Amino acid sequence: MARTPMIALHLLVALCILSSVRTSSSAPSDVDGFIGCLSAAIPPSLIHTPATNSYSSLLLASVRNLRYVLPGTTRPLLIVAVTEPAHVQATVVCGRRHSVRIRTRSGGHDYEGLSYASVDPDQHFAVLDLGELRAISIDASRSEAWVGSGATLGELYYAAAAANQTFGFPAGNCPTVGVGGHLSGGGFGALSRKYGLSADQVIDAVVVDAEGRLLNRSTMGKDLFWAIRGGGGESFGVVLSWKVRLVAVPETVTVFSIRRLRNESAVDLITKWQAISPALPRDLYLRVLVQNQQANFIALFLGRCGGLVDTMRARFPELGMTEQDCQEMSWVKSTVFFFYNTADRPAEVLLDRRNANYYLKVKSDHVAEPIPGEALESIWTKWLEKPEAALIMLDPYGGRMRSIPPSATPFPHRDYLYQFQFFSFWFENGTAALERRLSWVRGVYEDLTPYVSKNPRAVYVNYRDLDIGTNELEGNVTSYAKARVWGEKYFKGNFKRLAAVKSMVDPDDFFRNEQSIPPLPAAKR
Ligand code: FDA
Repeated sequence: MARTPMIALHLLVALCILSSVRTSSSAPSDVDGFIGCLSAAIPPSLIHTPATNSYSSLLLASVRNLRYVLPGTTRPLLIVAVTEPAHVQATVVCGRRHSVRIRTRSGGHDYEGLSYASVDPDQHFAVLDLGELRAISIDASRSEAWVGSGATLGELYYAAAAANQTFGFPAGNCPTVGVGGHLSGGGFGALSRKYGLSADQVIDAVVVDAEGRLLNRSTMGKDLFWAIRGGGGESFGVVLSWKVRLVAVPETVTVFSIRRLRNESAVDLITKWQAISPALPRDLYLRVLVQNQQANFIALFLGRCGGLVDTMRARFPELGMTEQDCQEMSWVKSTVFFFYNTADRPAEVLLDRRNANYYLKVKSDHVAEPIPGEALESIWTKWLEKPEAALIMLDPYGGRMRSIPPSATPFPHRDYLYQFQFFSFWFENGTAALERRLSWVRGVYEDLTPYVSKNPRAVYVNYRDLDIGTNELEGNVTSYAKARVWGEKYFKGNFKRLAAVKSMVDPDDFFRNEQSIPPLPAAKR
């Protein structure tokens, strides 16, 4: 590690401000010692404390949920904006030595802000910001890429297509999502019916573990390599970069967006869609977005218009899709279309790391049996006509998703027909707006109980939801028994194996947050 001889003035000021911080949950944090330790290994210009002008702008640069910058939210003690792996190693080593916990932030899209904030005043932590670790290097001859965790999905899509128009990557529909959080939580998107999750295409990774060691696939061992591909990276270390397999897409793909109002059979079409969409050929992904009392059927077809029209006529004639609905384009332009609902923007918008900021609350679910039409009608009548109704997204599984065993990666929800998201976002400040939106999302979730996943209610970890439970301590580590309440909703039977991996790689529970995986108690092993 490089050593800098002097601690910059702003760090000395910060020492004075922060030296009184103490955590109530374990050994007191020695923040002064932490900053001194960091300063010996990391250029002071990369260490941003509340005393520096840069702190707020850096913190806010990748905050995606304004709920977690409201007064009362716990902010990081400092942010280390690392530029090389050794900085990450030093931050972990210094954090361990001085009892300051670390939260890692790649793209900052965590629905509950866990990468940069907490609603628990007892949480004291520093943020490792990986935004500068975003190099992407493509080996076109092997259809592989190394991608830094700080890259965004849009940057990865753009780089893959620039190397070869027939390279794609299965990942989410929002280009500003960070690779680090997305791949470590799974990663679902428009190519998942054909190629599975992003995590299914990971072939190597570089991780800094709780000892500060730099590990790759062969040195980390198969259990840790399994855990970071869907178990949420934050519990096991810091993933610096990922080697991924790029997948084949045709030079021309076809998309459509067909909107239907309620008086144009929207509910009837959604009812049919539930059984049809997971059984469609793998080359066709057909999702539904419900917003403003309209159902928007949006498709990506890995082929030309003619093939799409034939498939839709044979499998879903009720939608009435015709040649006029087709828009042919390159795959990379289809990723623009999926986010902006238009392909009129150039592919370069994928390189824009900025994102609209809004208040956000999301709840999600999975469906094993089609919900009866009458139930959907009554949900629509009761909930969707309200002004605070959320954007509802229905995303089909089936295809490759279903053919991967649920224990192959930590993501266990392979057999469902589709996933639901109630994505409530709003711009008005104030408690009244907040309460109204939260009640809407929680209310519709409650009313759907008879029709959705059960025992446990299945949630995808990348759709983080603190309503399903948060950690409590037992002695100095997170309670396994308490964590099962939320953990089995995310991971079902894989939760115990994740806890076993945690015991091996971080038995002291250094990498901890409100929903981090606890170590498995010795008695349960
Ligand atoms: P962020 O930096 O907030 O990290 C999320 C979690 O992962 C935190 O706990 C963090 O500590 C941890 N983490 C991050 N980087 C790490 C690293 N390098 N090593 C270890 N731990 C790390 N999902 C999906 O599957 N399909 C989709 O289409 C979408 N679409 C979407 C749209 C929008 C607008 C949002 C806000 C979110 C999504 N998501 C999604 C969810 C998204 O996949 C999820 O929030 C990811 O965790 C975000 O990753 P970031 O790196 O951006 O988040």
